[in-house]
Amino acid sequence: MRGDGQHEATRRTFLRASILTGAAFALPGCLGEDDGGTEGERGVRRSGDRGAPADARLPATPACDDGDAAGPTAAQAEGPFFTPDSPRRTRLREPGVAGVPLLLAGRVLYTDCRPVPGALLDFWQADGSGEYDNTGFRLRGHQLSAPDGRFRLETVVPGEYATRTPHIHLKVQARDLPPLATQLYLPGEPANQRDGLFDPALLVRARPAGAGLRAAFDVVLATG
Ligand SMILES: [Fe+2]
Repeated sequence: MRGDGQHEATRRTFLRASILTGAAFALPGCLGEDDGGTEGERGVRRSGDRGAPADARLPATPACDDGDAAGPTAAQAEGPFFTPDSPRRTRLREPGVAGVPLLLAGRVLYTDCRPVPGALLDFWQADGSGEYDNTGFRLRGHQLSAPDGRFRLETVVPGEYATRTPHIHLKVQARDLPPLATQLYLPGEPANQRDGLFDPALLVRARPAGAGLRAAFDVVLATG
């Protein structure tokens, strides 16, 4: 699935401006699968969890609301499954896509906690069965952060695959700032402790919501 012409024009305009400022995304690489994330206020169990220990002992996600400067979000390898030119959309959860519903929301911020408007966020992930769509754009999409830095993604909880704990890949590009590639993790996942790429700093804050989860994560961009 591709975005419509207007969306593609918006993306091209953004990328052109980024290139002019020397800050375009790197070309997709073929690195080994990897990850990253931020921690939740509490561990969350969802349908299908197998007695997962809560990650309550993990440190809380740094917050900008307390007036402290936040450190930049940790970078992680992009992994082998990025596909460029995904459609512009905030809803990745479509009929027939396997997985528990997940609403992920947050902000893109500078390290001094000011919002970053118009940042390009590109998401991609496996479905609830741990399967990537490497021929189409299922569970892939990009969006621009709002004037207040906010973003919102309707998706599903990704499944485990191979040695990887559930994770959502994310690339963020803002004008005049270095690009960030990272991965977000879910609290309470048993495989978090077995995945050598897991980073508790990249755990989302999550809580049950109806038949699914609501999660939050603020992306803090390094200024250089
Ligand atoms: Fe992955």
